[in-house]
Amino acid sequence: MAYFLGIDTSTTSSKALIIDEKGKVVSVASAPHTLQTPHPLWSEQDPQEWWQAVSTSIKSALETAKIRGDQVSAIGLTGQMHGLVLMDEDGKVLRPAILWNDQRTQSQCDKIHEKIGKEAFIQITGNVALTGFTAPKILWVKENEPEVFTKAKHVLLPKDYIRYKLTGNYAMDKADGAGTVLFDLHARDWSTEVLSALEIPNAWMPRTFEGTEITGVINHEAAALTGLKEGTPVVAGGGDQAAGAVGMGAVEPGVVSLTLGTSGVVFATTPAAYIEPAGRLHAFCHAVPGMWHFMGVMLSAAGSLQWYRDTLAPKMDFDTLLKSAENIPAGSEGLVFLPYLTGERTPHPDPLARGAFIGLTLRHTQAHMTRAVLEGVSFGLKDSFTLIKNAGLGKITQVRASGGGTKSALWRQILASVLDVELVTVNSAEGSAYGAALLAGVAGGAWKDVPTACNACIKITGSTSPDPEQVEIYNKVYSIYRDLYPVLKNKFAALSEIN
Ligand code: XUL
Repeated sequence: MAYFLGIDTSTTSSKALIIDEKGKVVSVASAPHTLQTPHPLWSEQDPQEWWQAVSTSIKSALETAKIRGDQVSAIGLTGQMHGLVLMDEDGKVLRPAILWNDQRTQSQCDKIHEKIGKEAFIQITGNVALTGFTAPKILWVKENEPEVFTKAKHVLLPKDYIRYKLTGNYAMDKADGAGTVLFDLHARDWSTEVLSALEIPNAWMPRTFEGTEITGVINHEAAALTGLKEGTPVVAGGGDQAAGAVGMGAVEPGVVSLTLGTSGVVFATTPAAYIEPAGRLHAFCHAVPGMWHFMGVMLSAAGSLQWYRDTLAPKMDFDTLLKSAENIPAGSEGLVFLPYLTGERTPHPDPLARGAFIGLTLRHTQAHMTRAVLEGVSFGLKDSFTLIKNAGLGKITQVRASGGGTKSALWRQILASVLDVELVTVNSAEGSAYGAALLAGVAGGAWKDVPTACNACIKITGSTSPDPEQVEIYNKVYSIYRDLYPVLKNKFAALSEIN
């Protein structure tokens, strides 16, 4: 029996997941990371912590599975996207990694658009420059930490730092490469035009690979530390969204994946480098070789519910909290929640956007507020879903829902009715790490390509249909929701001035 290992370096933890050649998960182990926010809007991590968490997780996943390192045939990597790891010529990390949810770079984003022209930038990279992406972070270091910038020789993303520790190679997958917005989306590689306009040396950027290509092999040091066998191939893998879509079987046009995790993502595979003209949807390479994808990202999805519970109902467990919301009518009797607790990306790229309850009256109870949170997050996802529906991709044949929030039958029902679409759930619950392991399995010969792997391993387990009465109410409330952000935008910005 051959085994494949997927490694996911997410924001909260690193996970090692082992599957067998039939795609069955045989063990999972993880270890947490800490997050530093030394200034408002900043979000950083120490790459060394990722490596410690990864190496312990690999060891314990092997132990739990009771298999030896030499039984692992290939390894796939995934992780949080867009984070900047700057290294010197000896491979030493120069400063803490600046993460995907760091919001310090608005002025660098504006400069990128000024220098290259916003339209031209969208046409090359498929995207507008957003604070979360990697390119503006490099410019921020150049402007604010010149002593660091002069020593820089390598740019990596979080998962690729792990690759460097495992193999000694500087390499990156094309999905994550596109998420730096230094990529020529059509060419699936670095854009010399963008790099030279931003005065970032080409030589700093690693070679890029398709998701199932081999980027190097486990080196002596990593083998000694993890229990893996020296010489085991490490495939490119993909950023967490692309690898997560593989883990959900969203690898062919028509199948949309919807993730209701801390953040919320609507993801659609495209057969070519489609670009949304205003750059409202992210357009990146897929981890499936030769494919691309569109994606809408809301920053606080299940994260909104987590904040709400922790802040306003700290003594209640989620089941009790959500149970009470079942008895509240759709539309929460005119109460609307705006989920912009950490700013927003799609469809309002605005780090200063804020959350709000609008329409409170004396009649509203905690249960109304809970339901309004579930509905507001669903409306936010509808914004991305509508952009994808209108992007000229052809018929959406299936919507696959995953993430912690979809464990709630109530939330699934609300979401199906808000989107007016049937939602299906699948048997794979491990998302990105599972997708990375499948990519390794394809490289290791267990399946001939990624769609074959997904068809063999991922099965539909349930479905939720829209409720026609709810659909009618939600259409009305959604149109009110849509009008609220534009009205409040300037006030959100003014509020952010008050410390
Ligand atoms: C995707 C994104 C997030 C991070 C979080 O664009 O920013 O999914 O990758 O893990």
